[in-house]
Amino acid sequence: MGKVALITGVTGQDGSYLSEFLLDKGYDVHGIIRRSSVERRERIAHLERVKHFYMHYGDLTDSISLIKIIKEVQPDEIYNLAAQSHVGVSFEVPEYTSDVVATGVLRILEAVRICGLEKKCKIYQASTSELFGKVEEVPQNENTPFHPYSPYAVAKQYGFWIIKEYREAYGMFCCSGILFNHESERRGEDFVTRKITLAAARIAQGKQDKLYLGNLSSLRDWGYAKDYVECMWMILQNDEPDDYVIATGEQHSVREFCVLAFRKAGIEIEFSGEGVNEKGIDKATGKIIVEVSPEFYRPTDVVNLYGDPSKARKKLGWNPTKTSFEELIDIMVSHDMKLVEKEVGTQL
Ligand code: NAP
Ligand code: GDD
Repeated sequence: MGKVALITGVTGQDGSYLSEFLLDKGYDVHGIIRRSSVERRERIAHLERVKHFYMHYGDLTDSISLIKIIKEVQPDEIYNLAAQSHVGVSFEVPEYTSDVVATGVLRILEAVRICGLEKKCKIYQASTSELFGKVEEVPQNENTPFHPYSPYAVAKQYGFWIIKEYREAYGMFCCSGILFNHESERRGEDFVTRKITLAAARIAQGKQDKLYLGNLSSLRDWGYAKDYVECMWMILQNDEPDDYVIATGEQHSVREFCVLAFRKAGIEIEFSGEGVNEKGIDKATGKIIVEVSPEFYRPTDVVNLYGDPSKARKKLGWNPTKTSFEELIDIMVSHDMKLVEKEVGTQL
């Protein structure tokens, strides 16, 4: 019989790729979904009738649902991916973010113990490079001090430590993957990369006039989500539970992402000016197509993420650069060009 995996956050970017990955490996995959007044499960719609894929209603803020599901499913592996995952939004809804992102991890750990599965069930926690926040070292590895710099990151820090605590206190096989940003054609539309690739496609097709962004100088280590979910699985297959930085070891700015994404959409863009006055100009037409709006600034912003994935490479044999930065942008823009072709109407 195949192994049984339970994924929280199964409707999200990573949850959908991880489900496909585990189904391919012969797992029974159970996902936790939230009830919503509109059906928003497009990332997993293609899996809903697939054999060995099951869905359960639950919520990370609701211990009862978690205990019931874990008792019924008896998972060998839990991947805790559910989160209010938008850093900017965490400043608007800090209490809810903490409840899901911090206490939610504790609820999973306790549910596993209550169900008597602490010796059988391995747990992966979706930790984040946001823990390095106001960075104290560049590049960042597993020994770099944490300095979380948003309500989201502070909550994720609790998640990281409670995972470590349960590993040490109860001998549970729980691990954190400290993942740097990873993107894809399934990325949420309010994260900067997808916002840019969709806008580039719409502007190229005459369906949008301008793109408004926040901090263009922010630096990120961007990888491809499909490559990163493999590493989540590898972390749980290792002999010893441990925590790993997962990154590409390459760094680019938001501005650079913009230039390459627009180029892929057929527009050469040139930036001039500084701060809120910086503008992206279409070289062919002289039109301003990118502007800065302080609306997208954050009270504290993380601006220098750059990961060192040596430990994962060495101990897990993981290849951090399967998909290059340029290939990632190609995948996203090609996808969005086709998506936008089908859109009716103009986005202003
Ligand atoms: P995502 O696309 O925003 O997906 C988040 C998932 O969590 C969705 O399925 C969402 O369900 C679910 N969720 C939110 N609140 C919930 C709740 N109260 N109870 C149950 N489920 C809830 O995020 P992602 O990019 O796939 O990221 C996956 C995980 O990795 C997150 O924990 C994120 O913080 C972390 N992470 C992501 C990155 C990255 O670059 N992508 C990097 C480091 C760490 P709905 O569909 O119902 O909203
Ligand atoms: N979202 C957004 N929208 N970000 C913008 C914009 C904009 O219009 N303009 C500039 N940025 C800057 C942000 O200020 C930030 O410095 C950077 O672009 C990346 O922002 P996001 O794409 O929203 O991602 P994030 O890095 O804050 O968070 C993502 O990665 C984390 C891992 O480091 C999320 O997936 C988190 O869940 C994840 O933990």
